[in-house]
Amino acid sequence: LSANNESRGALVVFEGLDRSGKTSQCGRLVSYLEGLGHSVELWRFPDRTTSVGQMISAYLTNKSQLDDHTIHLLFSANRWEKRSMMETKLKAGTTLIVDRYSYSGVAFSTAKGLDFEWCKAPEIGLIAPDLVVYLDITPEKAAERGGYGGERYEQLEFQRKVSQHYKLLKDSSWKIVDACQPLDDVEKQVKEIVLQHIIACQKGKILSSLWS
Ligand code: TYD
Repeated sequence: LSANNESRGALVVFEGLDRSGKTSQCGRLVSYLEGLGHSVELWRFPDRTTSVGQMISAYLTNKSQLDDHTIHLLFSANRWEKRSMMETKLKAGTTLIVDRYSYSGVAFSTAKGLDFEWCKAPEIGLIAPDLVVYLDITPEKAAERGGYGGERYEQLEFQRKVSQHYKLLKDSSWKIVDACQPLDDVEKQVKEIVLQHIIACQKGKILSSLWS
C-alpha cells in the first residue's frame, strides 16, 4: 500500500470459535485503549448493517438458503465494501479492533468442504492485519459455555471442523491466547500483546495486503 504510514493505527483482528470470548475481549480492549487516550474503533464481520450484511444475516438465522459458494463470496464482499474506509481510518491514525475477518471466511467455508485455495482467492488484496489474536478453546469447552445459540454454524461437530481449518491459516501475524483461562487473565495478555503492536505501527510498520 502507499507511502505515508507515519503514526498510523493498527489493524488487530480477533479470531476463534463461536463462544471463544472474542466479543467480550474486544469490548474490554477497546475501553482500555480509549482510557489510554488512543483513537480506536470496534468493528465486526459480518457487518450486518449493509445490504450485503442483511443477506448474510438472513442466511445465518436460517431465514434464507444460499449455495455454499455464494454465501462465501457474500462474506468476502462484505469485507471488500469496508476496505477503503478501513484504509482511511488506519492511515488517519485510528486503531481498528476487528471481531472476525478473512480467517473466519476461509475456516468456516472450508469446514463445509469448499476448496482451501478457492476460499482464499477473494480475500487477496484486502488489508492484512498487523496482529491476529486467536482465542484458543476446544469446541467442547466452547459448547459448555452456556451452549451454542440457534445460528446455522453453532453445532459441535461443525465447530470441530472449523477449529482444524483455522490451524491451517496460522502465520507469523498470529498470537495464540489460551481462552480457557479466566477472563481477566485472557484480558491481561491481550492488552500486552496489542499495545506492543500499536507501538510498532506508530513507529512506521508498513501496511500490507492479504495474502502474501
Ligand atoms: P458473528 O456475527 O461473529 O456471530 P456471533 O456473534 O453469533 O458469534 O458471526 C456469525 C457467523 O458467521 C459465525 O458462525 C462465523 C461465520 N462467518 C463465516 O462463516 N464467514 C465469515 O467470513 C465470517 C466473518 C463469519
